[in-house]
Amino acid sequence: MERRGPGPVPVRMTVNGVTYELTVPPRRTLLDALREDLGLTGAKRVCDEGTCGACTVSLDGQAVYSCLVLAVECEGRTVETVEGLIRDGELHPVQEAFIEHDAAQCGFCTPGQIMALKALLDQNPRASLEDIRQTVAGNLCRCGAYPKIIAAGLTAAGVVAARAAAKAPEDGGAGA
Ligand code: FES
Ligand code: FES
Repeated sequence: MERRGPGPVPVRMTVNGVTYELTVPPRRTLLDALREDLGLTGAKRVCDEGTCGACTVSLDGQAVYSCLVLAVECEGRTVETVEGLIRDGELHPVQEAFIEHDAAQCGFCTPGQIMALKALLDQNPRASLEDIRQTVAGNLCRCGAYPKIIAAGLTAAGVVAARAAAKAPEDGGAGA
């Protein structure tokens, strides 16, 4: 088995569709690699110990606290951050819904909230109110904007579910 460390080690990961080759100390977190090495500051550092969710990103489609993931664990994996959600100049439905519902106050928790909800809707386009509540329970909002955050989640779920339903006949009618 290849020995890695204790000095800086190479790691190759794809972030927002771009593949990067970084050289990082083995203890470097994904959060630090994103913010310090790649200049992607959407994921926020608040607690830095896995209790607040401000650093939430998607890792191979799963929402993770990036302060609890080592960069070297991301070898060959796919990371998505809030900076990567825009497609062809259009915001993701969760981002649109946050604007519509004015779901950010200070906005510090917002990128993490958005990434957590986006991962939920990727996995379950028909997410319920309870699913949305459970999801944002892992993302602390000190401003107490939860009623608007949850309303935004419900609106986004409606948009994503409608798109999935519209797409199902094109895919051969599998979906219901
Ligand atoms: S900064 Fe990662 S969970 Fe708080
Ligand atoms: S909007 Fe301020 S912490 Fe959530």
